[in-house]
Amino acid sequence: MAKNHVIVLTNLKSKIQESKLPQHIAIIMDGNGRWAKKQNKLRVFGHENGAKSVKEVVEASAEIGIKHLTLYAFSTENWNRPKLEVQTLMKLLVSSLKKEMSHLHKNNIKLNTIGDIQSLPKKVYQELMDVIELTKNNTHMTLTVALSYGSRDELINSLKEIAIKVKNNIISPEKIDESVINQHLYTHNLPDVDLLIRTSGEQRISNFLLWQIAYAELYFTDVLWPDFKKQDLYVAINDYQQRERRFGKTSEQIKTTQK
Ligand code: IPE
Ligand code: IPE
Ligand code: MG
Repeated sequence: MAKNHVIVLTNLKSKIQESKLPQHIAIIMDGNGRWAKKQNKLRVFGHENGAKSVKEVVEASAEIGIKHLTLYAFSTENWNRPKLEVQTLMKLLVSSLKKEMSHLHKNNIKLNTIGDIQSLPKKVYQELMDVIELTKNNTHMTLTVALSYGSRDELINSLKEIAIKVKNNIISPEKIDESVINQHLYTHNLPDVDLLIRTSGEQRISNFLLWQIAYAELYFTDVLWPDFKKQDLYVAINDYQQRERRFGKTSEQIKTTQK
C-alpha cells in the first residue's frame, strides 16, 4: 500500500469522534451478485467474498467501540432465490460461523440473531445456537445477524403476541405504547438504529428494521459489499458525525442543549 494512502486511512479513523459514535449501526450488505458478475464469476463467488467484508466490518466496529452492529444477511424474500444459491448461502453461513466463533469469543463479541431462525436448515440453526451459547456473556459488542428476517414478519409476530396477552388480560389495550411494541420485536434487547448503511447503490430498505430505523441516519454508497472495507466504514461514520440529529426539534434547540 502506498504511504500516502496509509496516511489518509489513518486520518479517517482518527477523525472519528468517540463522543459522537453511533451506538447501533445496521448494514444492508448488498451487491455480492453484481460484484461477481463484473468479473464473469458465479454469484456464489460474490457471497464468498462478501463474507470477508463481514469480518472486516465486525473487526473495525469492535475496534472503534461500536456497541451494536446488525447485519442483514438473508431476508424473508431471499427464500425466493434459486435453490442452489439459497443452499450455498446457508453452507457459507455454517462455515463462516465455524471459522469465526473462537475469534468472536476472544474479542468479547456476543452473537445474536433476529428473524425466523426456526425456518433455517437444522445445521445452520444448530451452529448459530452453539455460537450464541459460547458468546452469551460477552460484553464488548453485540453482533446481530438478521436471518430469514423481514420487518413485516417481525411486526406481525409482535402483534400476535400482544393480541394474545390482551386476550388473556396480561396487558390492557390502553397500556400499549412504544415500549410494549419494542419489547415484542426480535430486537427487544437492542437500542434503535442510529446509522443505517446500504451498499451497492440501491436506495431502498427492503423490509429491514422498519420500526427501528424511524430516526436513523441513512447512508447509501455505491461500493459493492465485497469491496466494502474498514475505511469505507470509517467514511460512513465520519459522514454520520457531520449530521445534526434533530428528532423533530429545531437546530437552535439542539445547539443549546449541546452546550
Ligand atoms: C447481497 O448481495 C447478499 C444477499 C442478499 C444474500 P446480492 O446477492 O443481493 O447481490 P446483488 O444485489 O444481486 O448484486
Ligand atoms: C436485501 O438485499 C437483503 C439482504 C442484504 C440480505 P436484496 O438484494 O435481497 O434486496 P432487493 O430485493 O434487491 O431489494
Ligand atoms: Mg441485492
